[in-house]
Amino acid sequence: MTVSQLSCQPAKIELCHVTHLYVSSTRAFMAVKGIDLRVEEGEFICLVGPSGCGKTTILSLIAGLEHPTAGKVLIEGREVAGTSRKVGYMLQQDYLFNWQTIEENIFLGLDIQGIRSRETEEYALHLLEEMELGDVRKAYPHQLSGGMRQRVALVRTLACQPEILLLDEPFSALDYQTKLKLEDLIVATLRRHKKTAILVTHDLSEAIAMGDRLYILARNPGRINREIVVPAAIREPLPFPARNQEGFTELFNQVWREMEGLSDDA
Ligand SMILES: Nc1ncnc2c1ncn2[C@@H]1O[C@H](COP(=O)(O)OP(=O)(O)OP(=O)(O)O)[C@@H](O)[C@H]1O
Ligand SMILES: [Mg+2]
Repeated sequence: MTVSQLSCQPAKIELCHVTHLYVSSTRAFMAVKGIDLRVEEGEFICLVGPSGCGKTTILSLIAGLEHPTAGKVLIEGREVAGTSRKVGYMLQQDYLFNWQTIEENIFLGLDIQGIRSRETEEYALHLLEEMELGDVRKAYPHQLSGGMRQRVALVRTLACQPEILLLDEPFSALDYQTKLKLEDLIVATLRRHKKTAILVTHDLSEAIAMGDRLYILARNPGRINREIVVPAAIREPLPFPARNQEGFTELFNQVWREMEGLSDDA
C-alpha cells in the first residue's frame, strides 16, 4: 500500500461539523455545535470538559442512539444510521442483572445480538479470565465489588467483539486504588485486542495517563475548545507508570489551565 493510498483511508470515526439539538414540545436545546473530530483505528481518545458540554451526546451520536441535527457522523467513511455491532457502549452504571450469574450476564449481549455459540461463549469466558474474574463466573453481581462489576460489564461489552469502544465515565464510582488498577488492565486489554476507544472522564490525570489524544470541550453550546496530543513518553507506558513520566505534571497543569479558562460563550 502506498502512502497516498494510506492517507485516503477514512478515519475509524469522524464527526464533520456536527450540531445536535434536543427538541421537546416546549423547547429546542443545542447540546453541541460544529463538532469536528477524527479518531484513527487503534487510537485511545479522551473527552474532557465541564458537566453539560455534550460528552455523552457525542458518544450517543457515534453509537447511533441519536441522529445529528446537522453534520455527519461517519464510521469507516459510512454515515451512522443506527446502532451497530461494531460499536460497544459502556456506561457509568454497570447495568448487570442481579438475578443472573456473572456467566449469564456476560452471555447476555451475545443473546441480544443473536451471535451466541460455543465459540463466542468461549471467547467471553476467555475475556473473563483475562480480567482476572475466572473464579467468579458462577457468582451473582451482588457478591462482587464495584471494580469487579465494572470489569464484568467490560467483558460483556467486549464479548460481542466491537471494533470501537465508547466508555462513559466507567471508573467514576470506584475507589482510587481500584480505579488505577482498572485503568492499566483496560488499556492493556484494549491494546492487545487492537480496539479503538473513546473515554469520557472528569479526571484529567486519568485522561492524560490513558489517552493518545485529548479533546477538551467547552459548553453553552458544547464545542471542542482544544485538542492535545499526549507525547509518546507518556502515551506508550501503561497509565500507572505514565503518571511518573517526565512532562506529566506539566501537561496536567496545561490541561488544568485550559479547563479553568473555559468560558460559556462561543
Ligand atoms: N435527552 C435530552 N433532552 C434534552 N436535553 C438534553 C438531553 N440529553 C442531554 N441534554 C442536554 O444537553 C447538554 C449536554 O448533555 P450531555 O449529557 O451530553 O453532557 P455531558 O458533557 O455528558 O455532561 P456530564 O459531564 O454531566 O455527564 C446538557 O445541557 C443537557 O442538559
Ligand atoms: Mg455525560
